[in-house]
Order: sequence, then structure tokens, then C-alpha cells
Amino acid sequence: MKIIIATILPLSLFAASFNAPMQKYIDELKVQAKNSDSSFVDFSVKRGEKIFTSVHVGKRGKKISCASCHSLNLKANGKNIHTNKVLKPLAPSVNSARLTVVKDTKKWLRRNFKDVYVRAGTAKEKGDVLYFINSK
Ligand code: HEC
Repeated sequence: MKIIIATILPLSLFAASFNAPMQKYIDELKVQAKNSDSSFVDFSVKRGEKIFTSVHVGKRGKKISCASCHSLNLKANGKNIHTNKVLKPLAPSVNSARLTVVKDTKKWLRRNFKDVYVRAGTAKEKGDVLYFINSK
């Protein structure tokens, strides 16, 4: 028993891991990313950070970034700039419900990429930004 605990515990300390359904979604995104670019290897936290923080002329014709609603500090509350509603932190380290339900993640990525980029995110962009959020 002790041996089992000793081997399982360190694995659970990897903050950047996803639950099984989310990992399956990440793997699907990897296949899609590889299909559109054969040199693709893996998603990148660094590219994801740029996707999250860079400012674009959004759907409503105004400058906006993902951080406009979710805050540059992902461990803090955000505020939906369109409705003024408080958003709970995106960082899974402080909000364990984040990035756990594939359906919700897909739905909000679809909406939120439209808000900021006025188009759907590519598989590579979605994977990158999910790695970034999950690193927080
Ligand atoms: C106009 C405000 C707004 C902007 C801009 C925005 N979001 Fe969101 N986002 C929301 C709202 C509202 C929700 C749903 C409520 C919630 O989960 O707090 C949400 C939820 C999410 C979720 C779901 C997380 C989960 O598992 O619960 C992810 C992932 C996400 N956003 C990523 C992004 C990314 C990436 C961008 C930039 C491309 C972005 N958001 C830009 C408002 C925004």
C-alpha cells in the first residue's frame, strides 16, 4: 500500500496535467494541428500566453484581448466587460473546476475566440491557450 501511495502522489503534483476527458480533447487537437502543419510537435505555453494577452480589434470593433474579461492575473477574478458580471479565476490552481468539462471548454473557446479574434481559433491556437491557462 505504501509503495502505491508513494508512486501515485508525485504524479498528482504535476499541476499542468489535464483530467482524462480533457487530455483526450487535447490529443484530438494535436492530431488536427499536425494535420495542418506536419512540423507541429506540441502545444506551447509561451505561444498560448501571446494568444491570451495580445490585443485585437474584436467583434464589437473595439480593442480587446482574452485578458480584458479574464484579467492578466489568471488567479484573480475577472469581469465580463460586456455584462459587468464577475468571472471566477481561470487558473485551475485556484479554481479546480476550470478546464475539467470538455463541452464547456469547447463552447467558451468558440465564443471567446469570436469575441477577440472575430473567427474560430485553430486547433493549434486552442491547444496553446489551454496549455497556458493550465500552467496557471
Ligand atoms: C467578453 C468577455 C470575455 C472574453 C474577451 C474572453 N472570455 Fe473566456 N469566458 C467568458 C465568460 C463569460 C465565460 C463563462 C463564464 C465563466 O466560466 O466564468 C468564459 C469562459 C472561458 C473558458 C471556460 C473555462 C472553464 O473550463 O470553465 C475558457 C477556457 C475561456 N473563457 C478562455 C478564453 C480565451 C482563450 C479568450 C481569448 C480568446 C477568452 N476566454 C476571452 C468571457 C470572456
